[in-house]
Amino acid sequence: MTNETRDALEPDVATPAHGFVSRLQRSDAWRSMFRHPQLDTARGRALQSFSNFFLHLYPVKVPARVLRLRYSFRLGFIVAMLFGILTVTGVYLMFVYTPSPSAAYGDMQHLKTSVGFGQLIRNVHRWSAHLMVLAVALHMVRVFYAGAYKKPREFNWVIGVVLLLITLGFSFTGYLLPWDQLSYWAVTVGTNLVHYVPIVGGELQNLLIGGDQIGPSTLLRFYALHVAVLPGVLAMLVAVHIWRVRKDGFAVKRSSVGAFEEAATAPPSPSPPPLPRAPAALYGDRTRLLGVVDRESVTAEERGVDDTVFTWPHLVARHVVVLLGVAALVLGLGVAFAAPLRGLANPNLTPEPSKAPWYFSGLQELLSHFDPLVGGILVPTGIVLLLLLLPYIDRNPATEARNRKVAVLVFSGLLVAAIVLTVIGTLFRGPGWTFVAPWTHLYLEL
Ligand code: HEM
Repeated sequence: MTNETRDALEPDVATPAHGFVSRLQRSDAWRSMFRHPQLDTARGRALQSFSNFFLHLYPVKVPARVLRLRYSFRLGFIVAMLFGILTVTGVYLMFVYTPSPSAAYGDMQHLKTSVGFGQLIRNVHRWSAHLMVLAVALHMVRVFYAGAYKKPREFNWVIGVVLLLITLGFSFTGYLLPWDQLSYWAVTVGTNLVHYVPIVGGELQNLLIGGDQIGPSTLLRFYALHVAVLPGVLAMLVAVHIWRVRKDGFAVKRSSVGAFEEAATAPPSPSPPPLPRAPAALYGDRTRLLGVVDRESVTAEERGVDDTVFTWPHLVARHVVVLLGVAALVLGLGVAFAAPLRGLANPNLTPEPSKAPWYFSGLQELLSHFDPLVGGILVPTGIVLLLLLLPYIDRNPATEARNRKVAVLVFSGLLVAAIVLTVIGTLFRGPGWTFVAPWTHLYLEL
């Protein structure tokens, strides 16, 4: 009996025929699940990617720069993983939660005592939600400074802004669900803002909270939004977003942004037409000297050097490490810090201070300085519109900061203002929204 076997698709590559693992991998049952054996050849890796659902979500090869941590800090992937963790832990919580004011608070208490790992799962869910808001914001900032919202990625940036808004909506609707004093009053502060929307404010507020004040209908509406509407829309948009990242070339090469546009507008070249080439934005333009020979016979071939690497295992392995890191982080936070649960929601007792969650406390701080219509509606709406239209307003194809000073200055100014307002609102405000130094008393709501 021969001790090696040859794959029909890779006849040049022999695999050992003996050993339990080897025999298992050649069995009909194994092959019905994993269509292509693990062969360490270029073709083998490509075939593996094509025939495996999870690997198929990735392109077979990506530009080598995608592997560099400082390119994306893996932030988009981290957000996607946090969303995954939130889905798993959220479904677990759904088994024990009833969205009604008479039951919700009790269910939260039962998590501690009568549900296996109930409190831990709640803690992990809460920490993942906070981190997701933070990671989405950081991802957007990274994309901005990389200039990755420019042609041909304009619309993916727009989808991203919608994803940011949905993420905020997710956290806000979830905040109410424990039905304690913290959640009740934070959501009261937030939904009161809707009232200031010109003309339709009253109707909009009614539609959102289902009445004049937060009550059973609000809880039910927020629950339906939180567990069905928003996850459905977010999952669909994330799929489109990541599909477009792939179709748009996976990663911006800083020096060659605008190459797509140049190629499209370049004058027709004299015959014979050049051979079709891979887009310069993907592979870069470099010339290779093939050898040193007699002058008469020198042949220089100009072609794009293939600087791509196989996704499997290079990128996939990095993603697995990031996933394990994110899971370890939220688990560690969940073990160390419990999610808060104050007294049962009481519409007649306003806590002091009554703060919105940290990602809205910048807005609350702004409101304390301006008229609600200006601070609560006009300024935030203006900023969202500016973000949505950014790729269409900023037509400069340059991606390096020194060549796009205006955009970088405006964005950085807004970013610093948002951070300062958030830090003041979160850490430096106490009862009656007075200034309190956090080292004397910390009024921090998470
Ligand atoms: C649920 C929220 C989001 C998820 C899951 C997500 C996921 C991802 C992933 C996995 C990537 C590729 C890797 C990377 O660049 O990190 C990416 C790229 C990108 N994201 Fe997001 N993202 C989200 C929100 C946003 C937001 C808020 C924006 C901007 C407003 C945005 C704009 C972009 C753009 C333009 C790219 C392409 C970057 C490039 O090719 O260099 N995304 N996103």
